[in-house]
Amino acid sequence: MQLIDGKAIAAEIKAEIAAEVKHIISGGGKQPHLAAVLVGHDGGSETYVRNKVIACEQCGFKSTLICFEADVTEAELLACVDRLNKDEDVDGFIVQLPLPKHIDEQKVIEAIDYRKDVDGFHPINVGRMAIGLPCFISATPLGILTLLKRYAIETSGKKCVVLGRSNIVGKPMAQLMMQKQFGDATVTVCHSHSPSLKEECQAADIIIAAIGSPDFVTENMVKEGAVVIDVGTTRIEDHTKKSGFRLNGDVKFDEVSPKSSFITPVPGGVGPMTICSLMKNTLAASKKEYYE
Ligand code: GUN
Repeated sequence: MQLIDGKAIAAEIKAEIAAEVKHIISGGGKQPHLAAVLVGHDGGSETYVRNKVIACEQCGFKSTLICFEADVTEAELLACVDRLNKDEDVDGFIVQLPLPKHIDEQKVIEAIDYRKDVDGFHPINVGRMAIGLPCFISATPLGILTLLKRYAIETSGKKCVVLGRSNIVGKPMAQLMMQKQFGDATVTVCHSHSPSLKEECQAADIIIAAIGSPDFVTENMVKEGAVVIDVGTTRIEDHTKKSGFRLNGDVKFDEVSPKSSFITPVPGGVGPMTICSLMKNTLAASKKEYYE
């Protein structure tokens, strides 16, 4: 079994980005600028956004954090999106999800200029990704592809099972693993209403678990030598921790790891890669790599 060290790979990539940014700036180019919009005080969202701001510093980016109280109106939030769309200094921005119930999340996503949509959530980016055109790819799936590549894990012709069908992870992950220029694998998507989920997993060479159900994937669901990618990050109360909680993956790590050829831990696996993929997308936005 080999542990996939997402924290180390993310640090490597951020150092590569920082070196490129230094080179761009010394040549008189523009410093990349990411803005993040945070609504309310959800603990998970606050931590993610704080880590995104820290990653910007590590990469030599400028960052702007815009915070609203949970009772912000949809109109106020849309006005903020409009300002960021028009701000020529901002290369890319994200609106941290989830949003409070009174705000139409999809409306906000679609209000973002797709050329600044470094989360890759706008339907134009989602559609372009689905047909293999250059675009911003959603950060978690992009991070997983990067891990597979950096560990030289063969995916072509393999049987890949994606657990979960969210717009942020499950759906784009399945699309990318299927495509010739990325995974080139045979992909099955399973979810809460898949009767043969266990059997599909047992036959899989690669399992990507993104269902948000702690310890869901157990030893008896995994083939000997399978590659196991754990996207789960459920917060579980734990008073032995300073923060009062621990992060729990979708995979029962102690049981599954001895059977797997490669496995990502939680924390320190996929999580750090999500943030560094957002940095990659922001650099690409700043260089106008996909759109003018
Ligand atoms: N909430 C959970 N993951 C993400 C993400 O990647 N981007 C945004 N904007 N919100 C999220």
